[in-house]
Amino acid sequence: MKQNIYDNEDFFKQYEELRVEEKGKNANDLIEIPNFRRIMPDVKDKTILDLGCGYGESDKYYKQLGAKYILGTDISSKMIEKANEQNKENGIDYKVLAMEDISNLDKKFDIIMSSLAFHYIKDFDKLISDCNKLLNKDGFLVFSQEHPLITSIKFTENVKKGHTMIDNKYFGLFSDYNILGERKKEWFGGDVIKYHRNFEKIINTLINNGFTIEKILEPLPSEKAIESNPKYVNQYDRPFFLFVRARKIDELKIKRMNKEQLKKLIDSLKIDKEEYTILSSSGLVLRDIYDSAGDLDIAVTQKGFEQLKQNYYVTHKENDWYRVSDNIECVLDDMKDKREKLGDYYLQDINDYYEYLKSSNRKKDKLRIPLVEDYIKRHKS
Ligand SMILES: C[S@@+](CC[C@H](N)C(=O)[O-])C[C@H]1O[C@@H](n2cnc3c(N)ncnc32)[C@H](O)[C@@H]1O
Repeated sequence: MKQNIYDNEDFFKQYEELRVEEKGKNANDLIEIPNFRRIMPDVKDKTILDLGCGYGESDKYYKQLGAKYILGTDISSKMIEKANEQNKENGIDYKVLAMEDISNLDKKFDIIMSSLAFHYIKDFDKLISDCNKLLNKDGFLVFSQEHPLITSIKFTENVKKGHTMIDNKYFGLFSDYNILGERKKEWFGGDVIKYHRNFEKIINTLINNGFTIEKILEPLPSEKAIESNPKYVNQYDRPFFLFVRARKIDELKIKRMNKEQLKKLIDSLKIDKEEYTILSSSGLVLRDIYDSAGDLDIAVTQKGFEQLKQNYYVTHKENDWYRVSDNIECVLDDMKDKREKLGDYYLQDINDYYEYLKSSNRKKDKLRIPLVEDYIKRHKS
């Protein structure tokens, strides 16, 4: 469920007071904005998508630095209204759009940026995968979010604040760090829902979705920040924000595997041979129909799936598919009665695969039909 708390009248007003009336004194102005600017790449002549853009202040700033075009998006129509009133310029558009729906956009961008909005998203895997698809080659994804030490806290009747003072020193509380998921916190009279992810989840989600990490910031307050608001000395104890700059990996650099390399990869799999079936292009390479495969797709039994989870960092991808490693994906499907043995390996039965190809609408599947047809004919006798 998407939450749109910023469109709540009272919440919006109080948030505005924080941003406008405490201008120059709040954590956005003293810590978040200056550090976001430190981690952003050169924007000259670049196209930018800003997710959860709020009032669009940053969009105006980066446009004035020479960005070619910026699309600011936000789930809140109140935010987008303000952005249009206050920070609209030639070459900037604002659009009401939830981050959950960005796959509907039909343009690609050089940079995707997002300030303090990703912690509102439940399905981080999908968001990061969508970002990757919306980026041009070598594109950047730059975001800040509440630091995992902050998002971890489960607030209760007895835990109302995220810190306590002992000997006049700020001690950050944190709890439930390795229990990921929803957190509720009362803020400006509303129950705000955020999602906690530990470092492992944040970093591996980026890596698994085709990004390399170029920089991370857990910034200290500048002298000026402490002068303007002495309480931010507490950033030495625990940073409020985490900043990440990641870069889309060039797919062309991902090497395809010939038959020998593919066999090596299969032989290195940490799962019993009977518990998986080789699918798709890898099956074609092993039958010498194709020269190379980009990855290894396997169907696994429940037992095989448990073995994979013990031996790899398995993450859900989409539909019934899971990512096992950089070049291995699996689907949970016991195909024991729909497979054939070729040498040492179990492969999806070629006639079943042929039926699947004929029923598929994907262009790459259609191209495989005559090759598989020919193989079946040659091996009939
Ligand atoms: C803390 S504000 C930050 C605004 C702006 N990026 C800035 O730094 O000034 C978070 C913003 O994220 C937006 N937001 C929250 N959930 C969202 C979602 N699911 N999709 C798009 N925007 C969302 C809110 O409406 C709000 O404008």
